[in-house]
Amino acid sequence: MKIKYLLMLICLVFLNACSKDDNEEASILETPVANPAKDINDNGFKAKWNYVSNSKSYLLDVSASEDFATFIPNYNAKEVTDLNEVVVGLTGGTQYFYRVRAKSDTQISDYSNVISIVTTGSSGIPEDPAFLKVKVNQLANPFFVGMAIKASQLTNGSPYDVILKNEFSSISAEYEMKMDQISTASGVYNWTTADKIVAYGNANNINVHGHALVWHNAVPQWLKDFSGTDAEFAAEVKKYITVVVTHYAGKVKSWDVVNEAVDDNGGTMRNTIFLQRMGPNYVKDCFQWARNAAIAAGDTSLLLFYNDYATSTNIAKQDKVFSIVDDLKTSNVIDGLGFQMHNTYLSPTKAQIETDLKRAVAKGLKIHVSELDIQVNQFNDISSFTNERRLAQKEKYKEMVKIYNSLPAANKYALTIWGMKDNESWIPYSTELNHPGNDWPLLYDSNFAVKSSHTGFLEGLN
Ligand code: GLA
Repeated sequence: MKIKYLLMLICLVFLNACSKDDNEEASILETPVANPAKDINDNGFKAKWNYVSNSKSYLLDVSASEDFATFIPNYNAKEVTDLNEVVVGLTGGTQYFYRVRAKSDTQISDYSNVISIVTTGSSGIPEDPAFLKVKVNQLANPFFVGMAIKASQLTNGSPYDVILKNEFSSISAEYEMKMDQISTASGVYNWTTADKIVAYGNANNINVHGHALVWHNAVPQWLKDFSGTDAEFAAEVKKYITVVVTHYAGKVKSWDVVNEAVDDNGGTMRNTIFLQRMGPNYVKDCFQWARNAAIAAGDTSLLLFYNDYATSTNIAKQDKVFSIVDDLKTSNVIDGLGFQMHNTYLSPTKAQIETDLKRAVAKGLKIHVSELDIQVNQFNDISSFTNERRLAQKEKYKEMVKIYNSLPAANKYALTIWGMKDNESWIPYSTELNHPGNDWPLLYDSNFAVKSSHTGFLEGLN
């Protein structure tokens, strides 16, 4: 009897041991998730990752190349027991990558995702002096590199003029081709300034993008005060569009026909004087009038754009813009979509921008990143342009250019930067943006020197 119990006991212990082994073998160690680095400074950063159950430690790789062909000394599978590691001894202003694997007594997991960081570095890191349009024009599928300008900047030999001719292949008038600038009274047009802009582009082989025929923030006083009927109001708008498109036929390659017709809340039409006076079909009417005028003037290749902002982050707005696009496409009057992209160093994310642009690709539209600038002080939390923000901005410019350059050739049109020098950007002065402090959103500093953002633009083309 005793022997029988003993045998049973031995069996039980044996079985238990077997099943335990089986379990361990069956459960594969999960792959850790690497998180964005913290505390980035001149010579290092804190790498971070998530906990993996059953792991005893983590193997951290740090490399200066994205494919981890080589490793930073001491960071080739460095064993770490914590969920973060302060990486030290790096070079300033340099891009690094890290990834981790989890380790248990018996297993090593797959590699995590790869995190990219740029150490802040001290200032004075030389920027790439290459010219933007020169590099873009070497691409298999180039696009226009645009700049928002004012007529007063176009004096021959001025720094603006030299930079424009060297680096940019397209111009948009920052405000001087809007309705309140051109139309001084019903049927009265002041062409002087707008003509100067268009002539400059035409004479220097620089594309001219017309901005913008209809915008609620540039309605001339006489039209605001217009006392005629709604039908007469619409006739005034039709006359304006027809006369302006005819005047610049063959000289202006594209027009923003309507700017910002969609509200920020709830994806409805913005309640503008045009909506009130002309009804919800006004956008389509304006496009049709522009198209008819171009064709009547013999310009069959004029590109007509709808232009708006914040569609990558505001999905209700994005949906409404694309429903307007569908309507315009049904009438065959739209060629492209302008995405203003008044962005910040944090937003929108790469994925948000890609989703937004892909919808335009799916509709077969030309895409104009039409007013790009990247704020670094939207919370008004810095009083000088720090290295950290400088490099974050550089990465965001690089990301935008990379996204744009990856678009199919047929969808590319232009990527336009909204102003040249930081100190002349509209951003710090905008009451709408409501951060009246300093900001440095562009590619050149107040002395016309290229910034890291400019180098970022170039790197985005690689
Ligand atoms: C909007 C308009 C532009 C310009 C900016 C501010 O984005 O489309 O024309 O007025 O605001 O500079």
